[in-house]
Amino acid sequence: MKITRQEFARRRKTLMEVMEPNSIAIVPAAPERPRSRDTEYPYRQDSDFHYLSGFPEPGAVLVLIPGREHGEYVLFCRDRDPAREIWDGYRAGPEGACRDYGADDAFPIDDIDDILTGLLEGRERVYYAMGKDREFDRQVMDWVNSIRARVRSGATPPGEFLDLNHFLHDQRLIKSAAELRLMRHAGEISARAHKRAMHFCQPGVMEYQLEAEIHHEFAMAGARFPAYSTIVGGGANGCILHYIENSSALKDGDLVLIDAGCEYDIYAADITRTFPVNGRFSTEQRALYDWVLKAQKAAIAEVRPGNHWNRPHEISVRVLTEGLVALGLLQGEVDALVENEAYREFYMHRVGHWLGLDVHDVGDYKIDGQWRLLEPGMVMTIEPGLYIAPDNERVPKKWRGIGIRIEDDVAVTRDGCDVLTADVPKEADDIEALMAGSEPAG
Ligand code: GLY
Ligand code: MN
Ligand code: MN
Repeated sequence: MKITRQEFARRRKTLMEVMEPNSIAIVPAAPERPRSRDTEYPYRQDSDFHYLSGFPEPGAVLVLIPGREHGEYVLFCRDRDPAREIWDGYRAGPEGACRDYGADDAFPIDDIDDILTGLLEGRERVYYAMGKDREFDRQVMDWVNSIRARVRSGATPPGEFLDLNHFLHDQRLIKSAAELRLMRHAGEISARAHKRAMHFCQPGVMEYQLEAEIHHEFAMAGARFPAYSTIVGGGANGCILHYIENSSALKDGDLVLIDAGCEYDIYAADITRTFPVNGRFSTEQRALYDWVLKAQKAAIAEVRPGNHWNRPHEISVRVLTEGLVALGLLQGEVDALVENEAYREFYMHRVGHWLGLDVHDVGDYKIDGQWRLLEPGMVMTIEPGLYIAPDNERVPKKWRGIGIRIEDDVAVTRDGCDVLTADVPKEADDIEALMAGSEPAG
């Protein structure tokens, strides 16, 4: 199921093909990040670095030099160190980097100053993602400056810096068959986790307990970490878009909004479901829910090659505005309300985002100022919502504090799209039936 060595090699080749002559690309691994004093957050590799190498360790730098005789793909990494490995675990070392990860040439990271300076010298252009890591930016400049300092002895420093992201992120936007398989798997695991939470839920359960159910399902399926902080918001907490405190008790009569997706082999899933804590929607909850669902389905129906990126969003805005008028939450003509963005009081985010190695994945949404056209292999979320603030005195009390979002992951196919997260119910009747069932959701 994992990405093969051949695929990693193809990715590097594709990138090198668009690099200018006599150039070099530099991509650092993610740094380790302290959580408290001398303990660190679990390590997560940088997505760009992973995409090109599959190398899982910190303390590494990937270098691509198209046309270099002694090897185009150079990896700097931590040396083997039996004493350190007893504490921190196995290291591939330069030998393992070549043997197991396909590097043409590999060196200890401690030697990078000398060796990379040598590799940079005489190259005209450097592809590098400036501005992401201050510390590494400084290192890159130090390497270049050390060559500049020797110009009078004949050294030639690179003359131009180019944005690596421009090419690399365009490449990452279109998913391969293997990537789509991984993302589908991440979607399936995440769907099971949402069903598990629906089944477990009842009044009095704490939000963090639903989070625990979700994370249990992730980990038991081999996806140890969520792709982002899990959101479990009961009642009005569902109106806080990035609510991650997850610390309240769930109340009879409230909805609960869960936004959770696992990371499987570093690929993200991103699902939101909103359901009644006691298993039955109230009249107002159901009315709002059905409009959000209608908007979500209408937006998904617009995901196909040739439609532009913003088309699903536009449709979601129209349907939700119609719903807000039908329910009496907005007054006026739909066209005018869309035009003057009256819906934004209740629908203040966009319909979705690219999805991939990062939950908010890379890739431009516009090209030359125009919304980008959808192409097969792109994956996005479709996640409209309605949020009636608990203190909104312009609407009748019965609506206040209801927050609803429904989110699925959608891959663009040759003639339409494929929902990768379809295994978790979203019809209100199906959710009620699942929650009324006595067997754990499978
Ligand atoms: N979970 C983050 C998002 O839905 O965009
Ligand atoms: Mn989400
Ligand atoms: Mn999302």
